[in-house]
Amino acid sequence: MKKILITRRLLRENEDKASKKFKVELNLNDELYTQSKLIELSNGCDGILASLTDKMDAQTINKLPNTIKIISNFAVGFGNIDLEAAKKKGIAVTNTPDVLTDATAEIGVLLILGACRRASEGIENARSANWKWSADYLIGKQLTGTRLGILGMGRIGQKIAEITKSLGMIIHYHNRSKLSEDKEKGAIYHDSIKSLFSVSDVLSICCPATKETQNLINKKSLEYFPKGAVITNVARGDIVDDDALIDALDRRKIYAIGLDVYKGEPNLNPGYLKFKQAFILPHLGSATKDTRLAMANLAIDNIVEFFDTGSCKNKIN
Ligand code: GLV
Repeated sequence: MKKILITRRLLRENEDKASKKFKVELNLNDELYTQSKLIELSNGCDGILASLTDKMDAQTINKLPNTIKIISNFAVGFGNIDLEAAKKKGIAVTNTPDVLTDATAEIGVLLILGACRRASEGIENARSANWKWSADYLIGKQLTGTRLGILGMGRIGQKIAEITKSLGMIIHYHNRSKLSEDKEKGAIYHDSIKSLFSVSDVLSICCPATKETQNLINKKSLEYFPKGAVITNVARGDIVDDDALIDALDRRKIYAIGLDVYKGEPNLNPGYLKFKQAFILPHLGSATKDTRLAMANLAIDNIVEFFDTGSCKNKIN
């Protein structure tokens, strides 16, 4: 029986399933393992079921024992893993696409609504009983007729487009390539971020974190937006240069933000906290029971498929 290191606690049903398929090394205290601990615990294992909190950079991967043949990431995003270093060492990397699309798109839409409709201020005022209804109290931005720019029109971007279109938003997008018309469903394609940002009253960041997308939201690109735009991010914090975004909020170039992901999680740039117009969540994208069960099942199935067949349809390197 193959032995798998499972780096974080999973839901009980998933740990039970994994224990039936493999010998498992579980993390019963749900500790955040350091890189040296990950390497140490990998000894004697054939694979790792990793989480987005495990930083699998080249240095860590190069020190893994040669018995490790697969890193199955319990996430669709894979910015925590150096895919090239894994490939060079003969380690397959897999992810969990599809199963978290709906849950993550729901949070993407919540970020748009929360930022546009001043939900943070509203919650704070309601909790402290510090409010009085009036005709101009907490006036926000209505979504009807507002242009939504989607950066990265993959599965999650397409689902956000579908939902927000039903709210009356006008959908624009940028992607590495233009989608076929049946997938576009009337969304307007832009072949550059400059062109997309210049028509985005609201932006939803849905693209993967890669070397190319790192700090794509920066001092220069923020200037492409219409004044008073709203920026939301349901993808990864690495795509945003925090200082540039904080400065744009300060200058009111950007009206509000909705963030679920951050550079250096679980910390976030404290500069964001001073803004009432920051609607911020602690990386809740896929956090529903059905979705987490499905993600972990898929992460386990990816390992089973890999050891049974030598490959896996969700292999990403
Ligand atoms: C969640 O952020 C994921 O990438 O699965």
